[in-house]
Amino acid sequence: MEYFECLFCDKKFPVDVFDIFCSHCREPMICYSPPGKKNFHLDKVNPLEKFRDFLPLEKIGKELSLGEGNSPLIGLNRLKEKYGLPDLYAKDESFNPTGSFKDMGTAVSVQKAVSLGINKIGTVSTGNMAASTAAYGARANVKTYVLVKEDVTQEKLLSAGIFGASLIKVKGDYGELTKKSFSIGKKKKIYFMNSVDPFRIEGYKMIGFEIFLQSNREAPQYIFLPVSAGGHIIGLIKAFQELKQQDLIQKIPTFVGVQAEGCSPLAAAFTAGQTRFQRLQKVKTIAQSISNPDPPAGNTVLKLIRENNGFITSVRDEDILKAQKELAQLEGIFCLPASSTTLAGLWKFKKEVKFDRNDKIILVITGTGLKSLKAIDPAGLDIHQASLEDLDATIQTVEPSSLRGMK
Ligand SMILES: Cc1ncc(COP(=O)(O)O)c(C=O)c1O
Ligand SMILES: [Zn+2]
Repeated sequence: MEYFECLFCDKKFPVDVFDIFCSHCREPMICYSPPGKKNFHLDKVNPLEKFRDFLPLEKIGKELSLGEGNSPLIGLNRLKEKYGLPDLYAKDESFNPTGSFKDMGTAVSVQKAVSLGINKIGTVSTGNMAASTAAYGARANVKTYVLVKEDVTQEKLLSAGIFGASLIKVKGDYGELTKKSFSIGKKKKIYFMNSVDPFRIEGYKMIGFEIFLQSNREAPQYIFLPVSAGGHIIGLIKAFQELKQQDLIQKIPTFVGVQAEGCSPLAAAFTAGQTRFQRLQKVKTIAQSISNPDPPAGNTVLKLIRENNGFITSVRDEDILKAQKELAQLEGIFCLPASSTTLAGLWKFKKEVKFDRNDKIILVITGTGLKSLKAIDPAGLDIHQASLEDLDATIQTVEPSSLRGMK
């Protein structure tokens, strides 16, 4: 039997997708499933089928899938050499159907909605979860409500709107909006599968299982990932905890959660050794996708990170943009500023921690840079202009000097 469990106070409650918060301490809960021997179904391509023993789904409706998962683990050899690092990889979740890791969670939450006969779903999003929920909602033919921040980028707004969801740009505090969505959802029976939805978190576990399988069935030593509401990191930690329960690994990786300095309530609490974070009044960062001033699972994340010897750090916008450019120019990976926080976090972390030569470090690239072109400064790129007549001469000046004059 499954039930909801509060990781903060350990209380347990029956599963109710309209009520995911612990009535005792108001933290969001996770879905607990009975232990027992679980297997990977490696003959299956679809991750929901491959990892079905680990997911709280009675049956899997393959027709609801959009081909999520199976994202590549890409070696970052040039960055590794440039910074004298041990083995470094990107788990590139921008390969997902709507360009972000959110699809791994939405895929599971939508399966749950359909199996429960729910015909109205929704989400509150800074953008990525909006497109993801709208796409899977369209696929499942359920009415989808998407509440977005007023300052959402046009790319993110349109890439959600095209799926036919009802979009509402909401002015006001994002933390309050999230809370309000849950109370509206309960009243109107709209399943708001927000960032910390327990079934969404179950879906994020699949990213961890894929990392394990792609790493020759070993746990990497370090996983760097951006943290905002907290659902993503809870899902990944839970994945490795379950692998440990199954005796498939000895030790879970060291998780390093990264926030943008202009919105870093969890990094601030972690650094100060506090068990509870303080919500922010104002946020300012280029990494708009991770700018939640009042992360709903924040206290649970702090507890999990402490219990598992992880870290939460913050990085400056200028380093986020530098990291975004280096990932693109040295490795060919164009990601969101939210995702390049991982490389910037690694730069910072490297100053304090001595890596072992045999360590393996993974950066979770959570979303594609195409979703936030606004973040790119064209002035910093190698862009030139020429007429047809002077193109020859212009190419000559643009070529690296070592190639000039070669036929
Ligand atoms: C691109 C990207 N990366 C990371 C995150 C952080 O995930 P979470 O809010 O589950 O902590 C988000 C959340 O919106 C995101 O959009
Ligand atoms: Zn509780």
